[in-house]
Order: sequence, then structure tokens, then C-alpha cells
Amino acid sequence: MRTDTPPPVLLQDYKPYPFEIPNVRLVFQLDTARTHVLSTMQVKRTGEPGDSMVLDGVAFEETGKILINGTPAEDHQVEFTETGVTLHALPDDFELTTEVWISPEKNTELSGLYMSGGRFCTQCEAEGFRRITYWPDRPDVMSTFSVRIEADVEFAPTLLSNGNPGEAGAIDETRHYAEWDDPHPKPSYLFALCGGDYDVFTDHFITMSGKEVALSIFVDKGDAERAAYAMDSLKRSMKWDEDTFGREYDLDVFNIVAVRDFNFGAMENKGLNIFNSAYVLANAETATDGDFEAIESIVAHEYFHNWTGNRITCRDWFQLCLKEGLTVFRDQEFSADMRSRPVQRIKDVIRLRGRQFAEDAGPLAHPVRPDRYASIDNLYTATVYEKGAELIRALKTYIGADAFKRGMDLYFEKYDGTATTIEAFYEGFEEAAGFDLSRFRTWYSQAGTPTVTVERVDVEGSNAPRLRLTQANGPTPGQTEKKPVPIPLRMTAFTADGTEINPETGEPRDGQDEDVVLLIDEVTELQLAPNAADALISANRNFSAPVRIKDELTMEDRLKLVTVETDAFAKWEALQTVARATLLEMAHTIVAGNTPSIPDELVAAMVTAVKDTHETDPAFASLLLTLPGVGELFMEMTPANPAAIYEAKRLVRTAILKQLWPIIDEVIHENLTDEGEFTPDAVSAGRRSFYAACIDLLSAEGDKHSAKLLSCFRAAKNMTDTMSALRALSNVGGPDFEAAVQAFEAKWKHAPLVMDKWFGVQALQASDDAIARVRGLMEHEDFDWKNPNRVRSVAATFAMGNLVAFHSETGEGYKLLGEVVRKVDPLNGALSARLLTAFEQWRRVSETAQAHARAELEALRECDLSKNAMDIVQRALAD
Ligand code: TRP
Ligand code: ZN
Repeated sequence: MRTDTPPPVLLQDYKPYPFEIPNVRLVFQLDTARTHVLSTMQVKRTGEPGDSMVLDGVAFEETGKILINGTPAEDHQVEFTETGVTLHALPDDFELTTEVWISPEKNTELSGLYMSGGRFCTQCEAEGFRRITYWPDRPDVMSTFSVRIEADVEFAPTLLSNGNPGEAGAIDETRHYAEWDDPHPKPSYLFALCGGDYDVFTDHFITMSGKEVALSIFVDKGDAERAAYAMDSLKRSMKWDEDTFGREYDLDVFNIVAVRDFNFGAMENKGLNIFNSAYVLANAETATDGDFEAIESIVAHEYFHNWTGNRITCRDWFQLCLKEGLTVFRDQEFSADMRSRPVQRIKDVIRLRGRQFAEDAGPLAHPVRPDRYASIDNLYTATVYEKGAELIRALKTYIGADAFKRGMDLYFEKYDGTATTIEAFYEGFEEAAGFDLSRFRTWYSQAGTPTVTVERVDVEGSNAPRLRLTQANGPTPGQTEKKPVPIPLRMTAFTADGTEINPETGEPRDGQDEDVVLLIDEVTELQLAPNAADALISANRNFSAPVRIKDELTMEDRLKLVTVETDAFAKWEALQTVARATLLEMAHTIVAGNTPSIPDELVAAMVTAVKDTHETDPAFASLLLTLPGVGELFMEMTPANPAAIYEAKRLVRTAILKQLWPIIDEVIHENLTDEGEFTPDAVSAGRRSFYAACIDLLSAEGDKHSAKLLSCFRAAKNMTDTMSALRALSNVGGPDFEAAVQAFEAKWKHAPLVMDKWFGVQALQASDDAIARVRGLMEHEDFDWKNPNRVRSVAATFAMGNLVAFHSETGEGYKLLGEVVRKVDPLNGALSARLLTAFEQWRRVSETAQAHARAELEALRECDLSKNAMDIVQRALAD
């Protein structure tokens, strides 16, 4: 029997907590089976005299004493509830002591205190601290934490918590202790504790005011050398935040601990970041360029949270984008400065469209700042993070870089040390810009991706038309009517001879930046200059706003734009738009049972664009060479048919392969004969990504080139090239792929992070027996249902990456995911809920497939699922 769903949490119900806890002392006696936690808080009433004190506390083995000012609370004062304890009839100013026992080894949810790789670690965001001790587990209750950890000295020689280290020493022959003091008041979700036997990679950083910070990265035994790139990224992040945002670090130490079992990428706990080891450990042999890039950006992201998240935190979880959207914006800017800005922008847009646009178009759509949630874990979404970041970027475009900088400074000044809201964040920008931003904030309360239609309308008695820009945003769950939002569109025009002009004045641009056209109302009209009457209008350059553009350009117009555009994003986008339209048309032809003809213009344009760029900017060339993903096209096809889309892409790739053959051959030859050392920098990575795009083309013609691909695999001198070849082979399957899979396993069996790649590439394998293969992977002796990286490498890669197999008309893909969810959910509800989001597109597929998806979701709804999983199932099924 399934449990009844609790009522949702509502933004409008927010009430300040009626007590303050200026400081807390925590004493841990660490034990894998039974850890003792003693908490002593100083409490002051801030609310009404009659207010009770509600403390959260769940999943304890046992609760011990509750003392008020050192004496046991009386029975009538203590009311135990499903979710914690409520204390009544309290004094105004008192000391509260509680004691509980918890079991880290039983904790498979990976929230609270748990074991990973035989070491203690914690994860408290969003609501994990309540699994450690009784506490008002909400972000607006901020305290200074003083922590004492006691543990077996051999089992856990290193003991870490937030803040600065204090005293440490022996207790007796077997046990020792360490003290940690965090002087910065923080909410409980930023608490962290780690204990165990680690290897450590150390360094230091001198801050802008000359203070020395000791930096340490704690990793598994033998892995220290693999933390070098993470350390380098950390130092560059610290410098960048000083230079760009004027933000200095504020403790004597900064520690990172890498753990193998983790629900997310990483966590920004004050002074003690905890990372999924996938985003710490890297070297040429074991990590790809993609891994290096992810490490750099996640290390930066967590570090940047020190100001945007920790010093200034969220009043409640509805404000999550206040820290996440802003911090993603900051890490994207950092990566753009470290690498290639245009390439970074295109990658960010691919990610946004692939994940966030999809979310916004389905049953899980929600605003960047929602006003209700059933389960907070399910709010860590692409919308909150990625669209949240786009809104900050759009704001900066709207008010200008200077006002943006002043607004940020005002925010840091005014709200440092507080838990605050989106409204407060916008105050500084309103002051700096000198105008009201309440309409811009509508972006935060409306779900859905707006579409902007760009069209010319003739004006009577005028020799030039007007340009009409109309915005629309369709209904999303719970929101039928949408208001217009301010949309800052970067726009320019090109005349027939390729001259860039200002569309309104007709003046040549001569290298000046384009103006930003601001769409405030539903319809905005511009008068075009006479020489702009027939010019090509390029709108939303650099993807200045997270919208879809619908315009009247013909294929010829767009291909012309590819050649004249100077904005890298717009150039890439023009080609992608042609590719999208072409591939969709081909897919429909395939569904109708016909053979589509090869789109020569598209192929020729891609080949030319690649030829023009691959020597000067191979990273950009590889993006130009990559066709839109099945997932992106899936969203634009009704009913969506991933197999037909995949086949259309294969046909186009075959045609490109034929024309690029000489270049591909040369690139492979260069790669094989390259004697240089591997370096993870953007320029070298760009060359390897172009090589990867080239050999991917070799997989378009069935097994025709698979021997060559296998030789690429065997010759690979680093993990990037190994995976490029293996991925290409996985498109083909057959004996050469199997040989590579076996060789890879023999070599890397002992290396879990590398084996995650091995599992993943097989889950992507495109063939009729993909589902059987995935089942086999889950039977493999190294498959581990308790390890999220491993489960995701198979199940999430399959359901979110192998859309052809997942959406198979037989319904087998849905059934498989259902089985996985039933296995994972009792162990880790946050993880199973995440996997279930793969169902978000189920209403787009054929009727047959839809019936299978519905049946699976309905069956899951009758299971005794966790709150997290049930929330996704119910929203996916809602009408
Ligand atoms: N705040 C973290 C980040 O964005 C992510 C996070 C949220 C998280 N909830 C988590 C990490 C639960 C691990 C587990 O960087
Ligand atoms: Zn974050």
C-alpha cells in the first residue's frame, strides 16, 4: 500500500522561525554502526511568548536526553512527532541539549552522516542535517558551529569539519579527537563532517589582502597525484573571484574531500567542500577532456558558493535559484575566461536546450522560483540552475555591465551574513540601473520557454517595412495565462553584400557592438531603415535571452548568415537551425516509409564551415560539425520518433563523411603520429574534440570503417581519444566494438571511475538488443545498486541518452527503467526520483509507446515509493 502524499510546501506560508540559535556545540563520537551526537544550543526567543519550538529530526536509531538549562525537560514540554520533536512552554533565553544515536553504515540514502569507501562523510543539503541531530533544519536559521569529533585513531586518523581547525589530540590508546570552529554563522545545510584515512594533496593561496590560506584535497589512498588539476582549478577560481567580483576567501583553510558515493556533483559546505570523486580525480590516462572541463567548472562553482550561497544564503528553498542560478552564471563566466568564450557559450546553450527546454515543455515544468513543492530534492533542476543562470545573464544584458557590477556590489554589501530572497537581490540592480525591475522578475514566476516571432509588416505610405516582434508563452502545469516578460534581444542586420548595419538607422556597424532591442510588451515594432528593408535580421545573437526564435528566413538566408555572421553563436545557430529543419523533414519522410533525399545544401554548408575553421579553431569546428541531438529534435517532432531521427542523422553524417574524407584522414594521421605530451588546456582539448567529431563520422556507415575505429581505439594515448573511439564504435556494434569493450575492461577493471565510462558507453549502444545488454550490465559483478555513479552510468545514460532504445515501441525500455526504480528507490529515493525524470517526455511519443509509458507509470504509482519518486510519478501522470 502506498502512503498518502503530504500536502505541498507553499511559498506564501513562509513564517520566520520564532527562535534564534546564535551558536551550537556539537560533539560526535563516530562509530560506523552507532554514532553518538550531542548537541548544545544557545536559544533566544524572537517570536511570541507562546510559540513552541519545532525541531526536525528523523531516522535516528535512538533519542536520548533533552535538557533545558541542564535539567530534563518535563513530559508536558516534549511532543515527539513523525518529523521530529516540538518543545512547549519554553523560557525566552535558554540552553538546549539533545542527544541521539545514528547509524552511518545503514544510511544508503546518502543524506545525513554515511559511509563511503570505509570513511565517514555527510551531505546535508537540503534536509540532511535532520538525520544527524534535532534542529530547525531550514536555511534561515543561522548559527556559529563549534564541533568536536571523536573517533578511532586508526580507522579515522583525519577528522574534518567546517571552519578553522582547533585543538586535536589523543583521548586514549585507541581514540582521538579534533576540534573545528566555524566563525561564520551558517544554516545547517552547510554543515559537514568527514573522517577516515585519506591521502592528501596540499597547496596554499595568498588572498588579495595578503592572507595565506592552506588548501587541501583529501582523496582515496594512492589518488593524491590525480587531484592536481582540481587544485589548480581551485587556485584559479580564488583568483578569478577576487579579480572579477572582488570576493576574497574568509577562513584559514579550504578543504575538499572526494567521495565515491554521492548523489550530486559536489557540495559547497563552508570551508569543507565535499565532491563526487568523479569531479576531483583526473589525469591523462583516466580522464577525458570533458572530465577536466567539468572538474574546473564544478570546483569553481562550489568555491563561488562561498559568497553566493554561504555568506549570503536563501531564506527558504523557494529561493534556491538565488544561490544556484547566480553561481552557475559565475562558473560559466569563469569557464569562458579560462577557455574560449564563444565555445563556452555554445556549450552552455546546448546544455540548456537539451535539458531545460525539455523540462519546460513537459509535465515537470516549473518556474525558476516555484511557489510550491512536494519534495525539495526534486527542485534541484535544470530550470533552477541553468535557466536561473540565463536570467542573470539576461539581466546583465538588459541593465548593462556597469549597472550589473554595481548591483552585485550592493547585494554583497547589504546582505552579507543573511538569508534572503530574490526580491532583495533585485533591489541592488534597481538602484544601480535606476529603474523598476518588477516586470523582469515575472521571468522567475512563470514556467515555459517564450517564443519570439520575428516578421516584417508593410506600412502604408512607407518605403520600408516595420519589424514586428511578438512574444508568446504557452500553458504549463498550473499556469494557463502568461504575461509578457522583458526580453533583451541582441540583434543586427546584414545587407545583400554582407555589410553589417543597424536595422533601424541603416548605418554600417563598423565593428561596434550591436544594440539590444528590449521586448517589454507582447508586441514590439521597429521601423526598419530603407537599406534594411531586405536585410537579413539576426536576432538573439549570443543567445541573449532563453527563448525560441521563429523568423521568416529561408534556408538560403540562413546559409548566407552562416557565412556573414561575426557572432560565433549566431553563426553556429544558423547552421543548426537549417540542420534541425532538414533532419525533421527527413525523419517524417522515414516515418512515412520513404527514403529521404540527401540535403546537399546543408551538407555543403557544413563542410565549408568546417573547412574554414578547423585549422584556426578546431573546438568551434567540432561544434559546427555536430548535428543537433536526438533529444533536441525529439522535442520538435509530433509524434516523436527517435529511431527515425537517428536514421536521418546517420544519412546526413554519411554524406558529410564522403566530402570531408581527406580532412578526416589527415586528422586521424596527425593524431596517430602526435608525439606530444597530453595537456588538458582548451586549445589541445579543442584539437581532440575535432578528432572525435571526425571519427564519429566514421561510424555512420555501419561496420564499413569499424576496423579503422578499432585501430584508433588501440592507438589512443589518452582517455579522451580512447573514449572517442569507443563511443564511435558503440554506434556500430559488432565484433570490433566487443573487442574494444573487452580490452578496456581488462585494463581498467580496478578503476571505478574509468569503469563508469565502460558501463556508460555500453548503455548508449544503438542496437536491437540494447535492452538486453543493459540488463546484462546490471548483472555484472562490478555493478553496485548503492553507488549513484554506477547506477547512473547505466540507467540514466540509457534512459536519457539512448532515446532510441528507451522509447522503443515495445515498451521494454520503460519496463526496464521501472525495474531499476523499484530496486533503487528503497535504497536511495533522491536517486530513483532523478531517474524517473526520464519519463518527462512520454506524451510526445507514438500512441503505442505512450500506452506502454502510461502503464509503467501507473504501475509505479501503486508501489510503495519514496516521497521523492512518488512526486515525479504523480506529476508525470497529471493531466
Ligand atoms: N548545492 C549543491 C551545488 O549546487 C548541489 C546539491 C544540492 C547537492 N543538493 C544536494 C549535492 C544533495 C549533493 C547532495 O553545488
Ligand atoms: Zn550550486
